[in-house]
Amino acid sequence: MKRIRIFDTTLRDGEQSPGCSMNLTEKIEMARQLEKLGVDVIEAGFAIASPMDHKSVQTIAAAVSNCTVASLARCTKGDIDAAWDAVKEAKHPRIHVFLATSDIHMEYKLKMTREQVLERISSMVAYAKSFCDDIEFSAEDASRSDRAFLAQCYTNAVAAGATTLNVPDTVGYSTPQEMAELITYLKEHVEGIENTDISVHCHDDLGMAVANTLACIKAGATQVECTVNGIGERAGNASLEEIVMALHTRRDFYEAETGINTRQIYNSSKLLSNITGVPIPPSKAIVGANAFAHESGIHQHGVISNAQTYEIMKSTDVGIPQNTMVLGKHSGKHALREKLASMGYELDDQEMENVFARFKDLADKKKNITGSDIEALVLHRRNAFIGTCKLLGHVVNTGHGVPNTSYIKLQRGDEVLEDVAIGTGPLDASFQAINRMLGMEDIRLESFSLNAVTDGEDAVGEAVVKLEDKNGATYTGTGLSTDIIESSIRAYVNGINKMMEAAN
Ligand code: KIV
Ligand code: ZN
Repeated sequence: MKRIRIFDTTLRDGEQSPGCSMNLTEKIEMARQLEKLGVDVIEAGFAIASPMDHKSVQTIAAAVSNCTVASLARCTKGDIDAAWDAVKEAKHPRIHVFLATSDIHMEYKLKMTREQVLERISSMVAYAKSFCDDIEFSAEDASRSDRAFLAQCYTNAVAAGATTLNVPDTVGYSTPQEMAELITYLKEHVEGIENTDISVHCHDDLGMAVANTLACIKAGATQVECTVNGIGERAGNASLEEIVMALHTRRDFYEAETGINTRQIYNSSKLLSNITGVPIPPSKAIVGANAFAHESGIHQHGVISNAQTYEIMKSTDVGIPQNTMVLGKHSGKHALREKLASMGYELDDQEMENVFARFKDLADKKKNITGSDIEALVLHRRNAFIGTCKLLGHVVNTGHGVPNTSYIKLQRGDEVLEDVAIGTGPLDASFQAINRMLGMEDIRLESFSLNAVTDGEDAVGEAVVKLEDKNGATYTGTGLSTDIIESSIRAYVNGINKMMEAAN
């Protein structure tokens, strides 16, 4: 079996995509989950991009020890200095330098000749190597580059010390056959390539990112770059869970394996969706709500007789919990801890106290607490520790032909604030009251969504808001309650807390 290295770029290429930004606490939580998942490399960010990016790469570098931590850098000394400064405390640091090599990028974006690009690759890879042994070089837009020139670029990178050569299909233009042929060509024409890892990085503009990645593995790639849930620029990057499960399920064909603990796939996917507020489409392969559901009678009959008639993977292999044991108001901390462990969650004592308190609250309102309810409580636990504003109470008056009013009572630090507002609906009135009492009337509500975590009339509702501040930055807030107005107000307050935290 060939060992394929998983390079996860959820926190860099993924986070770069609209609506997927994360704050420092969330990035660290995600990085820890990626470590649990067993990825080989975490690309933690682009250190030069902003002081916040630098800080998050640096914090992640110190927080994880089993994975290599990489920072992206353009081929300039300033970028490489920032990248090294951010990853240098990692147990396994990597600098990832890139430069575009296609004619169109060199002429219109870089305004550099081929000779200048070749020279820049040699000098900047060597510069990065003076700090760090582990250097990855990416030829941006490799798949649309002249092949002979591309091979020369990689040859220069190897001569200057690159240990991984990454081949990006930056604009998602290639087909699986073309990508495989490109890898074969580079293996034959790049001097020294046999001593490096060959990596691929595919975007999904034509829906072929995973197929392209798998074709490259067949042709000899030893590292793949991907993101959880396939988030990323435009149509996204190749999805980690799809690549991993394709290799796992079709070992007979690919003869390759990864170091991923597949049972952590579901929790990783859920965590990312909870942090970003970007829902997982129901029919998304591997992690969508319908991925393991059999609706048609013929299929159900087949699965009951023999699961393999219609199932090529087991839902438990990707860590989807079996919702058999339900808890209720008489369940204690021990039962909750056991249930959490069976779902792959380990909480520290403070988190456990917090989740248990919310569990007891919920048990007062809801008879049977299912695995999905508990999962929602766990995913929302970080909200208890974020920010200075807390919702103390609300009263909403709503109806047809009467004004919708909302009274809100908030605690901000030591102060208690209250206000009443009229709005077009109960939520508009509540949000206006909050904005006014906090003096934040320029906030724009970009989007709002509400989902039931479980079925039934006592279902827990999860609200997600995206708020935009006056500078155009967006913040995701989430809230949970059996009362959908309360979950919406909680989501709004959570978004505001994140906005305030970013401003400090
Ligand atoms: O898509 C791309 O080319 C990239 C590189 C920086 C690796 O993200
Ligand atoms: Zn990319």
